[in-house]
Amino acid sequence: MCNLIKEIQQLIGREKVTRDVLLEIQGLVKDAIPEMQAELCHQDWEPGRYMLYKDPKHGFVVMMLVWGKGDKTPIHAHGTWGVEAVILNKVCVTNYTYCNISPKELCSAVLEAGEVAYVLPPDEDVHVVAQSGELPAITVHVYGKELTENIIFSPGSGFRPSSVTCRKISTNFFDFSNWLDAYHASTNTSKSAFS
Ligand SMILES: [Fe+2]
Repeated sequence: MCNLIKEIQQLIGREKVTRDVLLEIQGLVKDAIPEMQAELCHQDWEPGRYMLYKDPKHGFVVMMLVWGKGDKTPIHAHGTWGVEAVILNKVCVTNYTYCNISPKELCSAVLEAGEVAYVLPPDEDVHVVAQSGELPAITVHVYGKELTENIIFSPGSGFRPSSVTCRKISTNFFDFSNWLDAYHASTNTSKSAFS
């Protein structure tokens, strides 16, 4: 089992994921970036979401997102804590207020390879991520629970749940005794990116 997963398990097993704990998780993810780059940056991934790992005890997940030209999420929230790490090229992350009528932009930053950010409901969860710069961009995300849906903002409708699709893959770095076999299999292989 790779150290990143073991360390996150230990942290989550001890205490609730407060901002301080999340910052510790963020540090662990940042430290693991070189290993993730070595594992994930030398393959030709199609743009989209990939599920790398789901923790059988604590429920947190690790996902990889591959960003093609112009890929951009809508304004959305996840309803759980999360850390994202840029492992190849760049993305632009913009944070918003949680407002059902007109979310207001709070801040925006381009994250380069090696950089990390976090989301934490209720006040730091609404955001947009967009591809920026060279292609493809690759990000790795750790979330507190499996994202079967995101909470998407639409003008006039406010924030509504919207299902999330992702491919499930196994890699050497996140290889946990064929976790895919234990995971309830899904045949969903949508190529759509981030709507
Ligand atoms: Fe997000």
